[in-house]
Amino acid sequence: MKNTGLTVFAAALVLISGLTACNNVKTKDMVKSEPFGEFKGSEVSLFTLTNSAGNVLKLTNYGATIVYIEVPDRNGEKENVTFGYETLEGYINGDPYFGSVVGRYANRIGQGRFTLDGVEYSLSLNNGPNTLHGGPGGWHSVVWDAEIVTGANSVKFTYNSPDMEEGYPGNMEASVVYTWTDSNEIMMEYTVTTDKKSVINITNHAYFNLHGAGTGDILDHQLTINAQAFTPVDSTLIPTGEIRPVAGTPFDFTTPRLIGERIGEQDEQLLLGGGYDHNFVLDKSQPVAATVYEPVSGRVLEVVTDLPGVQFYCGNFLDGTQTGHGGLKYEYRSGLCLETQFFPDSPNKPDFPPAIIEPGKEFKTKTVYRFSVK
Ligand code: GAL
Repeated sequence: MKNTGLTVFAAALVLISGLTACNNVKTKDMVKSEPFGEFKGSEVSLFTLTNSAGNVLKLTNYGATIVYIEVPDRNGEKENVTFGYETLEGYINGDPYFGSVVGRYANRIGQGRFTLDGVEYSLSLNNGPNTLHGGPGGWHSVVWDAEIVTGANSVKFTYNSPDMEEGYPGNMEASVVYTWTDSNEIMMEYTVTTDKKSVINITNHAYFNLHGAGTGDILDHQLTINAQAFTPVDSTLIPTGEIRPVAGTPFDFTTPRLIGERIGEQDEQLLLGGGYDHNFVLDKSQPVAATVYEPVSGRVLEVVTDLPGVQFYCGNFLDGTQTGHGGLKYEYRSGLCLETQFFPDSPNKPDFPPAIIEPGKEFKTKTVYRFSVK
C-alpha cells in the first residue's frame, strides 16, 4: 500500500517535472521575450522566435511589428531580409510602417471621408488630401498587449481601439497571432470585433529585400502576381474605380518578370505611382497570391492570403535617410511590400469588394509569408 503510494507519487513527480521541462524548453527555445523600452507609459517588448531550423523571427508589440527575419540562402548563409530598427526609438522616430500592422484601414481613403448607413465619417488626414493606413495615430503607432502562446512558436498581440479613434466608428478589439513555423512561414491570423458597423482593412506592411535588407535595390527581384487586373489610381494614389486588365501593360506579372524590366516605361500609371504602387486584383482560384524570387541568393518569398487584393509597392518613397539593422541604409527602391488587403478606398467604391465589419460577427483574415530557396 505504502509502496504503491510512493510509486504513484514518484511517477507523478517525474511526470510533473517532465511537463515543466517540456514547457520550459518550448518557452525558452521557441519564444524569448526581452524589454525593448517604454512608450506613453506602456512596456514594449522584443520577442525572438526560433524555429527548428534555427531561423529567427523578431517581433515587437509596438505596432504589432515584424522587426527581423533571418532566413538562409541556397548555400545556407543566413541574412535578415526585412526592414527594421534595432531600437524602439527607431520605430517611434523613424519610418512609421516598417513591418508594422496597419489599420483600421490599410492603404488610402479618398479625402479621409466615407458614408455608412447615411452617416458621414471624417477621418484624420495624413497623406495630402487623404487618410493613409488608418491615420497618423493608426494601429502601427500604438502599444498592443502581448501574450506568448503556450506550446507554440506564436505570439498574440491584442489592441482595443476606442469608438471614433482617428474618426472611425465602433469600439474594436483587434488581435493578430504571429506563428513562425518550422517551414519558415510567418502565419498572420487577424481577428477583429466591433460594437458598431464600421470599415476594416488590416494588414502587415513589411518591406522585403531577398538578398538582404539594406544591400541594394529590388529591381533584380523576379515577381509573379496571380492577378489578371489592377486598380488604376489618380494623382493622389486613390483608385479611380476602374478594374483594368494587366495584359499588355507593365503591370502584367502573371508570369515571372524582373521588377526592373518595365518600371522605367513612360506608362501613365507608373508615372502616377512613381513606379509600382498599385493594388492588384487577385485571382482567387490560385493558391498563391504572389511569389518573389531573387536569383543570386536563391531566396523565394510566397504570399498566401484569403483577401481579395495585394498592394505591390516597390519603395518609391524610400530615400536612404532611414538606418536600420547593422547600420544599413534603406535606399530608394531597396525594399518591396506585398500588402494583402481589401482594395484601397473601397468604402467609397461601391463596386469594390466591401470592407465592412458588423457587430456580433467576428472578422477573420489570414496571410502567410513563406520563405524557401531554389
Ligand atoms: C504603402 C503605400 C505607399 C506609401 C507607403 C508608406 O502602403 O502604397 O504609397 O504610402 O505605404 O510609405
